[in-house]
Amino acid sequence: MTMATMKLPLKMYILILLGVSVMLYQYSLSSVIAFNGAPLDGADVLYRGTQNESMGHEAIKSGARRLDVAMALPVTTTAESKLPMLYIITPTYTRPEQVAELTRLSHTLMLVPNLRWIVVEDATHKSPKVEAILAKSGLPYTHLIAPMPEEFKKKKKGPKPRGVSNRNKGLEWIRQNAKDGVLYFADDDNTYDLDIFEEMRHTRRVSMFPVGLITKLGVSSPVVRNGTFAGFYDGWIAGRKFPVDMAGFAVSVVFLHRRPNATMPYKPGYEEDGFLKSLRPFEPKEIELLADKCTKILVWHTQTKKNEPSQPVDTSKYNNTNILTLKTILV
Ligand SMILES: *[C@@H]1O[C@H](CO)[C@@H](O)[C@H](O)[C@H]1NC(C)=O
Ligand SMILES: *[C@@H]1O[C@H](CO)[C@@H](O)[C@H](O)[C@H]1NC(C)=O
Ligand SMILES: *[C@@H]1O[C@H](CO)[C@@H](O)[C@H](O)[C@H]1NC(C)=O
Repeated sequence: MTMATMKLPLKMYILILLGVSVMLYQYSLSSVIAFNGAPLDGADVLYRGTQNESMGHEAIKSGARRLDVAMALPVTTTAESKLPMLYIITPTYTRPEQVAELTRLSHTLMLVPNLRWIVVEDATHKSPKVEAILAKSGLPYTHLIAPMPEEFKKKKKGPKPRGVSNRNKGLEWIRQNAKDGVLYFADDDNTYDLDIFEEMRHTRRVSMFPVGLITKLGVSSPVVRNGTFAGFYDGWIAGRKFPVDMAGFAVSVVFLHRRPNATMPYKPGYEEDGFLKSLRPFEPKEIELLADKCTKILVWHTQTKKNEPSQPVDTSKYNNTNILTLKTILV
């Protein structure tokens, strides 16, 4: 065969390949759109997204973005739309790492169906930077503020009860707006395996699971012997009935509703214990053990290196440059 006769079939081959790719792409598009009656996860999110306070077109844009994400993933099945709702409460406060950490967490949560992200700032005003991250995520979200009460803010000695007013505000929102589903306190500086969200969804009362990178022991977890709860493994027991980390448990919303007095105390180091005790009647032996009976670590207390606030920019030297724009993003 000469080169000339080879070229034609090659061109045809490429054309056929292209045609098939386009067909496959369209097929995958229609199957995403087909899932679930409520046309698709992206649209569902988009619909609920528009219910958010203070967002209009941004939600639609972000919903579309989420649709792109959905398209890149395996098609969601009908069963997934029936999944119990997850309410993720994230307390946050302004600091140099905040935007980076919320960006990363938003990207994790964007991969989780049937979820509402409740972000509560320890601040007197909602931060536009936080709002922008929430809107861009395309997730159904609720953006709230809950400043730490003055009496604790003024405290000079010892640690402050950080995140308590935020989490209680999130609980209050859930009490007023959610009938069922599951709530989880997800701080913005942790690392989450997607599996943990699917497991915690089916919590009937309180589920627990190991959290990695905690204290000198490296992990905090219920102890499981012969398949049943046998105590707690944690580097700081401190007389706590529930010596666990904030990221180590999830609570059923129905169960919470039956405990109208449950609240988190302003007690540094004892927030988890106080909250779990306030869910009485509830005993450790009733804990639902997730992560394959607590044999896997699906949440990590990563922590981020603390950064000093950025130094001031020489505004005359950098006047009319991008540096002044960048500076507005920084804390
Ligand atoms: C382990 O649990 C089973 C029942 O789940 C029980 O029959 C068995 O005796 C237990 N073994 C030990 C060593 O406790
Ligand atoms: C909630 O607290 C109030 C006041 O402290 C008390 O009267 C009530 O019995 C409590 N309810 C429950 C369900 O524990
Ligand atoms: C920056 O440039 C603008 C004009 O572009 C000028 O009005 C302003 O005074 C300059 N600011 C500083 C700090 O040099």
